[in-house]
Amino acid sequence: MQHFYIFIGCCSLLKLSSGSGEKAENCLFALFYARLAPLAAPKLGGGSGEKAENCLFALFYARLALTLTHKTITEKRMNTFLHAKDLTNIDLALREAAEIKQERYKYEHLGRHRTALLVFFNNSLRTRLSTQKAARNLGLDVIVLDVNQGAWKLETEHGVVMDGDKSEHLLEAIPVMASFCDIIGVRTFAGLTDRHADYTEQILNQFILHSGKPVFSMESATAHPLQAFADLITIEEHREKGRRPKVVLTWAPHPRALPQAVPNSFAEWMLAADVDLVVTHPEGYELDPLFVGDAHVEYDQMRAFEDADFVYAKNWSCPGVTRPDDYGKILSTDPSWTVTARQMAVTRDAHFMHCLPVRRNVIVSDEVIESPRSLVIPEAANREISATVVLKRMLEAMG
Ligand code: CP
Repeated sequence: MQHFYIFIGCCSLLKLSSGSGEKAENCLFALFYARLAPLAAPKLGGGSGEKAENCLFALFYARLALTLTHKTITEKRMNTFLHAKDLTNIDLALREAAEIKQERYKYEHLGRHRTALLVFFNNSLRTRLSTQKAARNLGLDVIVLDVNQGAWKLETEHGVVMDGDKSEHLLEAIPVMASFCDIIGVRTFAGLTDRHADYTEQILNQFILHSGKPVFSMESATAHPLQAFADLITIEEHREKGRRPKVVLTWAPHPRALPQAVPNSFAEWMLAADVDLVVTHPEGYELDPLFVGDAHVEYDQMRAFEDADFVYAKNWSCPGVTRPDDYGKILSTDPSWTVTARQMAVTRDAHFMHCLPVRRNVIVSDEVIESPRSLVIPEAANREISATVVLKRMLEAMG
């Protein structure tokens, strides 16, 4: 019987390392090992002298069942990356992030002979650099395409008579782009004029529908998941052990109308994590319940900041939730919402966070962003880690 277990164990290890990754097979193997684990376990009390061995075998099969179940779920989910739930298990993803931070090239083999295409419809510094670095950590070749610099101007609407300045339609451009790569990252900001178009992610979803390749958001109309994951990694690294941190997401003024992608994702990821989230903003700036759920909203900024461990500042334009006609508009430029030492004084010596780029002395004072409690640089550096974990997961799912 012992040799039988060893034989099955070796077969399963070969199966796991082969990367063949057939979902149905994995399910069957997972069920098989889940069944073997309790069969081994009853022998533990038999006093046969094989207790230790049986215990090890029981643990071994239980572990295999869990691994294969997780692998199957990952395969199913990680064809796209837009929401926290796409990672399935946030705690596991945080552990992977810590592992990758120690050993960035551990999974370099995964991207061999594969190419990532990063498509930018909008400007970027951090996302552009960190995603390229992450892709190279994983052995991927990288192509970066700035759609508005050197490519043909793209039409994104269907049914349009293309007699204007747009030379190519997204419906042809996407499959052509996809023919040169294995995985696609897309940055496409909200237009802020048509809420329905933005909140149904019309451009990102065309890539998902027409590329036939795994697609991840590098900040799309409603979400910036790579940023939110990096923010969560940073909070995990700086939180006081044994304390559930109070995290405050605060609106701050800005001269231009900005999308809601960053605060949407930040709220979504904090709700999925082990933190107490409080959101504060002037009335009219209520975020979409799809992202903010039933998070505590406090309209008094000073009260929201009391005893905070982390303060995350961001501007966003009207999300059109409580004021649909004002979608995408600036409702307030009140400078009293700028984060300064005045608000930080009522916190628990909170860390200050912002995704960057940031307008100093509009969103946050020099004093606060330059203080030793500011995490803006470490959170930007963690963009490489969040992107490496996500690309690793997507490459693993490709088999
Ligand atoms: N935070 C962020 O996404 O930065 P970039 O816009 O520079 O990529």
